[in-house]
Amino acid sequence: MADIVEIFDTTLRDGEQSPGASMDDHQKIEMAQQLERLGVDIIEAGFPIASEQEFESVKKVSKAVRGPRIAALARTNRPDIERAGQALELAARPVLHTFIATSAIHMEHKLKMTPEQVLENADGAVRLAKSLIDRVEFSAEDATRSDWDFLAQISQTAIDAGADVINLPDTVGYTTPAEIRGMFEHVIGRVTNAEHIIFSTHNHNDLGLAVANAMAAIQGGARQIECTINGIGERAGNTSLEECVMAMKTRPDVLPYETRIHTKEITTSSKVLSNITGLLVSYNKPIVGRNAFAHEAGIHQHGMIANQTTYEIMTPESVGRSKSDLVLGKHSGKAGLAKRCEELGYELASDEVAQLYEKFIKLADQKKEIFDDDLRILLLGLRDETFETYALADLNTSGKDPSMAMVELRKGEEKTRDTALGDGPVHAACMAIERIVGISGRLEEFQIRAASPGKDAMGEAHVIVNFENRPFTGTGASTDIIEAAVLAYLNALNKYLALSKQ
Ligand code: KIV
Ligand code: ZN
Repeated sequence: MADIVEIFDTTLRDGEQSPGASMDDHQKIEMAQQLERLGVDIIEAGFPIASEQEFESVKKVSKAVRGPRIAALARTNRPDIERAGQALELAARPVLHTFIATSAIHMEHKLKMTPEQVLENADGAVRLAKSLIDRVEFSAEDATRSDWDFLAQISQTAIDAGADVINLPDTVGYTTPAEIRGMFEHVIGRVTNAEHIIFSTHNHNDLGLAVANAMAAIQGGARQIECTINGIGERAGNTSLEECVMAMKTRPDVLPYETRIHTKEITTSSKVLSNITGLLVSYNKPIVGRNAFAHEAGIHQHGMIANQTTYEIMTPESVGRSKSDLVLGKHSGKAGLAKRCEELGYELASDEVAQLYEKFIKLADQKKEIFDDDLRILLLGLRDETFETYALADLNTSGKDPSMAMVELRKGEEKTRDTALGDGPVHAACMAIERIVGISGRLEEFQIRAASPGKDAMGEAHVIVNFENRPFTGTGASTDIIEAAVLAYLNALNKYLALSKQ
């Protein structure tokens, strides 16, 4: 049997550190439930000392998700570790993840500590963590720029103090495949009791090498990959979960390792994340990009018709992409709708099915064919309403240069309307929203795409709006693209309001 590689998903922690990717509690739980369906072994739910909201969301994810282990991050100081321990109290299988930097650059300039002090800190932190939580992971931050003998020494210290997992991160995305493999071989070869420890790899993608480095680390003896859906994360992102998993599945001849991932859940996981965060996946992204399985060149199409394996190394079905994802028509009933939602990974309560059905029928009146992506967007809107402060009640725009917009917003039972002028209809509508809510945001990015095929497709708008120097992403969808843009702006505003309330 091939060796098992554990998948440690850090979408909710390192991934959430992507600018604009912040998620509220409901969204973190929704994403964590999808990660559970995907079959990840560990979900890193957050960094509890960072804020009250982060603490609460780790607690809520621990309570809601019982299958995978739940990890929480802490630096090596007592308050961090105790806070992480408290946040994990309700978790069925908690992991306390503590880290300290080990490179000369970090020790001297950031920590202002000697290597001896760092060793002492790591020892104390792991012992404290182990007294609170059964399973402890120790990370040597900036491992790939650290002295390898020092890495072996600190790994041994952490192991002797009780660590179960040793993670050697490429924090700044600096290493190369041959080098990282050598680093793991060196450290694993030098510590005693290595056979009882899981060595873990955590890579950043600054040079576009994160996945290649993760694969090389596995060849060097690591048996856990820390990664994120769609590769989101700090700067250029983290190792992409879907790329690693499919590389091992597609090339068992050279990568004889297995994971517990249900690969058919990959596409849904990717979509749930981009819908929640508003961070779109580029068309050419491996595995989950829109074009990842599209064959455009005539010569390729010809080959594919003769035999799919000519140009296809894995099937779209294996990652959950269906050839024809036409769902339901206007005459479909509620049961059919609920069943399709379940197949897409959304289990709905009966009141949610009723609400969704209402939206579905309205959409079916506007467009002939409803696809899975249309349904995903409706579902997201449904869930989003739980933290919605303002809802769009009415919108009318006219003219150009300048354009005028009339917007009516509903807040609870109360409706308020106002008008404004702007450089175009979207700008005018955003100005009207600002006048109503009294909060001004700066629209930094605005993209619109067709959510599904056909001339009557829903427009899916994605925006990034800056409120008080913090970027908030928003998504909105409608068959009217101006309305889609206004809904996206409102979605970002509601997120800002929800987070500033917490
Ligand atoms: O990149 C990194 O070093 C990290 C650690 C906290 C594991 O995210
Ligand atoms: Zn990281």
